[in-house]
Amino acid sequence: MILHESPFLRACRRLPVPRTPVWFMRQAGRSLPEYRRVRADVPMLEACARPDMIVEITMQPVRRYDVDAAIYFSDIVVPLKAIGLDLDIKSGVGPVVADPIRDAGGIARLRELEPGDVGYVTEAVGGLVEELKGRPLVGFAGGPFTLASYLIEGGPSKNHEHTKALMYGEPKLWDDLMRRLSAITLEFLKVQIAAGASAVQLFDSWVGALSAEDYRASVLPHTSWIFERLAEFDAPRIHFGVGTGELLGLLSEAGADVVGVDWRVPLDSAAQRVQPGTALQGNLDPAALFAPWDVVAERTRDVLNRGRAAEGHIFNLGHGVLPTTDPDTLARLTELVHEESER
Ligand code: CP3
Repeated sequence: MILHESPFLRACRRLPVPRTPVWFMRQAGRSLPEYRRVRADVPMLEACARPDMIVEITMQPVRRYDVDAAIYFSDIVVPLKAIGLDLDIKSGVGPVVADPIRDAGGIARLRELEPGDVGYVTEAVGGLVEELKGRPLVGFAGGPFTLASYLIEGGPSKNHEHTKALMYGEPKLWDDLMRRLSAITLEFLKVQIAAGASAVQLFDSWVGALSAEDYRASVLPHTSWIFERLAEFDAPRIHFGVGTGELLGLLSEAGADVVGVDWRVPLDSAAQRVQPGTALQGNLDPAALFAPWDVVAERTRDVLNRGRAAEGHIFNLGHGVLPTTDPDTLARLTELVHEESER
């Protein structure tokens, strides 16, 4: 495979493709028995710091499915751990922070990320580029709002109340926090690109909790700063969040080449909401994979048809693969996307 001719990278650049490229957010991980085997005795954050584990787990779904891209195995909190924050990932819960950050003293603990802090990323990406033989590798990082939410709340949150209290009530502190997190995210993405990642995705998963006005005032300047600084590299930039129907225009305004759409907005509508010159990624409901195959197939065809309204379409789920998903369904889905779009 020749990398720059890959359908995934071509679709990101809005160039014609022989068939719609497909990959799945969270394609690596708990839905795969081989993942559960290699992770049995290794804590999540330890696995994320070991190049051998990273390469193996990233490659597992690529061996199973004919996906058009691999996603680097890591987690959005890895760069925060790398600068010395006391945090962990609890199975079935998510990231938990020992001492949540809620004031100037806490924010001051967020130092810059140096490439040397994440030498294992450089090593693992290098190993993956070799193993992937021309199949693109998607690098990623957490978006600043989503990272801030974990740090401020101390763990997963439904309402993001402490986060919003700081955002609404202490705009200067919020700005300082967002600048520091954006710098860490940018550096983490640059390390992955320098080591050979072909594209990068910013997962600002929880920004859907914000109104458009608040997003524009308090988050957009920071994500724009990140995307502007990534523009000099030859790696397409994907911007994704959940529940972002009202924010899709702003997510593309931030400077992304591709906007990831969850299952709540049909792609033909999404195409009208993003800036001209933006490709779309998505957006089959991950829960639809539990319905009978006929239903999955029909919904997949519908996503593909609506995706034709976009300037470029990368097939994906509307959010990550759910842990109890049958891997055989994903294998079949990958084939179906390819077959249907080849016609
Ligand atoms: O295949 C892939 O997509 C690559 C791996 C990946 C992980 N996390 C591995 C992981 C990616 C891209 C992420 C990003 C991530 N992490 C996001 C953004 C994407 C999204 O889902 O919106 C967020 C919000 C997190 C935070 C996080 N980490 C959560 C909510 C959880 C789940 C907790 C649980 O166990 O239910 C994690 C842990 C995590 N990250 C696991 C994996 C494989 C599970 C850990 C385990 O297997 O023990």
